[in-house]
Amino acid sequence: MLLSAVFLALFAPSVWAQSSVIDAYVASESPIAKASMLANIGPSGSKSSGAFSGIVIASPSTENPDYLYTWTRDSALTFQTIIDQFTLGFDTTLRGEIDNYVGAQAIVQQIPNPSGDITTGGLGEPKFYVNETAFTGPWGRPQRDGPALRSTALITWANYLLSEGNTSYVTDTLWPIIENDLNYVSSNWNQSTYDLWEEIYSSSFFSTAVQHRALRQGITLARAIGQTSLASSYGNQADFLLCFLQSYWNPTGYMTANTGGGRSGIDANSVLASIHTFDAAAGCDAITFQPCSDVALLNLFTYVNAFRNTYEINSGISTNEAVLTGRYPEDVYMGGNPWYLTTLAVAEQLYDSLIVWNSQGSLDVTNISLPFFKQFDSTITAGTYTSSSPEFSTLTAAVKTFSDGFVALVAKYTPSSGGLAEQISRSNGAPVSAVDLTWSYASALTAFDARAGVIPGSWGAQGLSLNCGGGPVAQTVSVTFNVDASTLEGQNVYLTGAVDALEDWSTDNAILLSSANYPTWSVTVDLPGSTDVQYKYIKKDGSGTVTWESDPNMEITTPANGTYATNDTWR
Ligand code: NOJ
Ligand code: NOJ
Repeated sequence: MLLSAVFLALFAPSVWAQSSVIDAYVASESPIAKASMLANIGPSGSKSSGAFSGIVIASPSTENPDYLYTWTRDSALTFQTIIDQFTLGFDTTLRGEIDNYVGAQAIVQQIPNPSGDITTGGLGEPKFYVNETAFTGPWGRPQRDGPALRSTALITWANYLLSEGNTSYVTDTLWPIIENDLNYVSSNWNQSTYDLWEEIYSSSFFSTAVQHRALRQGITLARAIGQTSLASSYGNQADFLLCFLQSYWNPTGYMTANTGGGRSGIDANSVLASIHTFDAAAGCDAITFQPCSDVALLNLFTYVNAFRNTYEINSGISTNEAVLTGRYPEDVYMGGNPWYLTTLAVAEQLYDSLIVWNSQGSLDVTNISLPFFKQFDSTITAGTYTSSSPEFSTLTAAVKTFSDGFVALVAKYTPSSGGLAEQISRSNGAPVSAVDLTWSYASALTAFDARAGVIPGSWGAQGLSLNCGGGPVAQTVSVTFNVDASTLEGQNVYLTGAVDALEDWSTDNAILLSSANYPTWSVTVDLPGSTDVQYKYIKKDGSGTVTWESDPNMEITTPANGTYATNDTWR
């Protein structure tokens, strides 16, 4: 019996051929990806172009695009990969790199920058020069996923060191850095952010998901080192975050990437969120959007299908086979192409799913995930299929082939050098945009590990439940107040109103409007969503004399998400 099963598996020609091709690609690309990733890290990486110790460059490309900066997000995802490789015992030579990263982040956190300083929001700054100075040009800032991702990487490291008995390094060196980031996440998660693609200022699913994960891990670490009151305050915020996370679901079948932005919201943002919050111990839990949850599988299905007719290079591929995917179908950046790291993320989500199905010995098809599974078996119906059932074998084999298909496409469009750029031309498959993108290499390594069944550490997703009664689950929306008001020389227009964000009717602290478009005065403020907000404009002159608008108070009802603008006239 066993022998014939092995025989069949080996000689089913298409499976054998495809999977051996992928095996060969993984074997040759893995060492290239690792060496190329390390080449982009200072001080001694061969392409790190003057980067200081522990600083990760995004890419050595210095023009079109200029990526010779260090992004907190890219760096954290890179070091998450490196720390996992070390702590899982795959490569014990990486310790010096990790120590350098810790040292660099302790410095970078303290650099005053256009987002603020360490106490006033500076941790949300997305990127720095590689010599650890602030980049002061215009940019989509802040990006509030960075501190979350960095703390998650460093907590993974701290947990390992604690298990080795190295408590003092954790409490004296790592914890202060981690605490800065967690406190930032804990107090700012409800503020608007630029998304991970640095384009849309609103709330963003990826950011919320990684913030939630960071705080959960933070709770466990804080308790382990006796920081119990911080642990409980992180716990309160994590509960709110988990509730908020649910609000991104679009019932037509995907996680809306951003609350603002005016696009479909179908975006690799959600697939990346799923793989970067994978916790095998949580099984196929839907509220934390685990890779094999029905919502995450339907989301993957919707996301992948959005690219079938978007790129010329995907034409002629049948509807149940892998295609190249990009950031989001409407993307135009550098021509709007497929990306290596997004295509690999799809494969990784599916490999993660296979890990869980195989370890739990069953697979659930629900009414939500049915369209995903019907790609592989048009007669499948909702139900639980145990590992002894033919459906389990058919579906898991088909999912494996499907996921290998994404890696096969990446393999096909990897140049013979093994170098991975940022993008793949939508028309001819040539590498496009930044060469040697560090994040592309990291994404290859994590996808390959998932394919091999490697399980990253748990972060506490298991057994969570929603606790959404009361509390500040409402998100903020960005409201622009415009008022036409003529003023005398020396007078300015201010805004005050009935909520904290409008200074609770204070005249002293009222918010100054800009007269850049005089006689229209304007200011943009974050206000709680879905809330009736009363306000008035006031005029103040140089001597502090206040003139109020006439009664009654003005009032708006803020939308649940997105942005809002008023067009008022002084009265
Ligand atoms: C550069 C950003 O890095 C990229 O993500 C974005 O798409 C472009 N600017 C265009 O805004
Ligand atoms: C542009 C991408 O959109 C962004 O996510 C990334 O951080 C930077 N490039 C640097 O790689």
